[in-house]
Amino acid sequence: MQRLKAQTTVLVGVTGGIGAYKACELVRTLTRRGFRVKVVMTEAATRFVAPLTFRTLTREPVATSLWADEPGDPVHHISLAQEADVVVVAPCTANVLAKLAHGRADDLLTTTVLATEAPVVLAPAMNVHMWRKTITQHNLDLLRARGFVIVEPGSGELACGEVGEGRLAEVADIADAVEAEASRVQDLAGARVLVTAGPTYEPIDAVRFIGNRSSGKTGFAIAEEAARRGADVTLVSGPTALLDPFGTRVVRVESALQMREAALAASVEADVVVAAAAVSDVRPAERSEAKLKKDDLPVAIALERNPDILAEIGAMNDGSKVIVGFAAETGDPVAEARRKLEAKRCDLVVGNDVSGHLGFGTDANRVWFVTREGAEELPVLSKREIARALLDRIAAMLRERRGT
Ligand code: PMT
Repeated sequence: MQRLKAQTTVLVGVTGGIGAYKACELVRTLTRRGFRVKVVMTEAATRFVAPLTFRTLTREPVATSLWADEPGDPVHHISLAQEADVVVVAPCTANVLAKLAHGRADDLLTTTVLATEAPVVLAPAMNVHMWRKTITQHNLDLLRARGFVIVEPGSGELACGEVGEGRLAEVADIADAVEAEASRVQDLAGARVLVTAGPTYEPIDAVRFIGNRSSGKTGFAIAEEAARRGADVTLVSGPTALLDPFGTRVVRVESALQMREAALAASVEADVVVAAAAVSDVRPAERSEAKLKKDDLPVAIALERNPDILAEIGAMNDGSKVIVGFAAETGDPVAEARRKLEAKRCDLVVGNDVSGHLGFGTDANRVWFVTREGAEELPVLSKREIARALLDRIAAMLRERRGT
């Protein structure tokens, strides 16, 4: 088993079930595998195992309450959430599972999980009838669709005396799932990634422009996730209200011509190019430096074509770069994505249907990953989950290209 860098922090959440005693073994296993482990317990969990046990095993303070006085840290749940590279909740009771599925945050553990950007692994454990309840299975579906990793419980004799599914998964399996998430965290280390995001504004005069509804959320999520996974990220963004993603180099531009200049410059050194921007295909042929008076506004605006940035980068690619484009369609997103894959010489095109309520400006989207090998349809996911799934694909393509 590969050993990970010592500073990789796993936050272990322990909830109130009999499986809590196995969390001690999980903490020991993770510590042995080289992780720094911190523990958060629900109040119910402290009735099964004393915080002192985890404190002794981890040599770290054990957090049990939102209201405990942590010296020098007034917002403990946020600092715990930010510190974690991976969060694992084991055992995860039906109650905590339900709260996480619905975004409830009424204690330190659920608040921390809601606040974290790290991948979250859940190892449910409960009575067989609670496990089989439609509502529990529905909550699990919700959690899976939102990117939580579920380590399914085992089957056998349960603490309550019944026999069936619901027993906490084997400690080694839970630790493997944590390790898989942790190793994914740095799988883009050393890769130089260029992301374009947002709309472009094509000026008509000093105040008016031709633009579109892109918010930049998709490209920003990709840039931030890539940086989390160790990539050296340059984000070229059109006008958006979003803050610079942590750990990225951001170049803010306005027009397609400015985006082209910044993107072409950054693409020279890039190993990966992801073009999520909604670049205006046209611009006004003339631009007034002053604001035009109402009476001076033309009734028709002459337009010129903008250069296709992605097609230019694709044409220059000698095969060493992984190039990903997007296709925003109101028709068949897969057919159009296929066409753009060839026309712009991409390795993958993310097709999305923007005719409904998803796509521009929303927090979730429904996309298809289209390559020469075929099309994969993803369920409706948050843009962050789409970013993670896309970067999984990109990391695999990079490994293949490098023969590793
Ligand atoms: O920003 P959000 O609010 O999160 O919205 C996300 C999104 C809908 C903008 C995103 O999912 C998306 O589909 N982005 C691409 C939108 C688009 O311009 O699609 P297109 O089919 O017109 O362009 C195809 C590809 O060529 C895109 O990768 C685009 O960046 C690129 N292109 C297009 C025109 C141009 N002149 N230069 C380009 O590089």
